[in-house]
Amino acid sequence: MIFTVAIDGPAAAGKGTISRAVAGRFGFRHLDTGLLYRAVGVKGGDPARAARDLTPKDLDRDDLRTLEAGRAASQVAVLPEVRAALVAFQRRFARSEGGAVLDGRDIGTVICPEAEVKLYVTASPEVRAHRRWLEVGGDEARVLAEVKERDARDMGRADAPLRPAEDAVLIDTSAMGIDEAVAAAIAVVAARLAGT
Ligand code: DC
Repeated sequence: MIFTVAIDGPAAAGKGTISRAVAGRFGFRHLDTGLLYRAVGVKGGDPARAARDLTPKDLDRDDLRTLEAGRAASQVAVLPEVRAALVAFQRRFARSEGGAVLDGRDIGTVICPEAEVKLYVTASPEVRAHRRWLEVGGDEARVLAEVKERDARDMGRADAPLRPAEDAVLIDTSAMGIDEAVAAAIAVVAARLAGT
């Protein structure tokens, strides 16, 4: 069975947790596409070359989840050459046998417009910054500024900007616990699988 769940949205909205839960519930494979951009961002040198030469080992680094790696990812993600180099791998993953969940910024709009389910997971910048701050600590105001800067760059870039696909189901997790958000996502996928 070919079945793609595209989960897009801004940083720290809950995409990762929801994606892992959906993949686990339905036995689908999961790809966190942000990791590809993070790996390119931290690799240094020419970003386009880093994207073309990316290997599974690059995704194994333990510094990919830091704020700095997120910023570097967002910076290299504006480059069309970087995005182009990562398209084919993501498309193959999306349409591989057995079902796939991909989370990112442009999965429903660019990578897999034919996805059977498209979710746009979001929350207010303040809520997202607070969640991120609980994980990374430090100065919460700085984390909020970082979240807003990343939103502006991801939504404002010319190539594959972050925006909901027209047929995406919106899940605003601002006032939701994680269990509620996961249940909402699973309900959408279950309904589509049941053909309703
Ligand atoms: O989801 P994340 O925070 O790991 O993503 C890090 C950055 O990578 C994000 O700010 C923009 C970029 N990105 C992208 O442009 N397209 C994707 N599909 C995923 C991530």
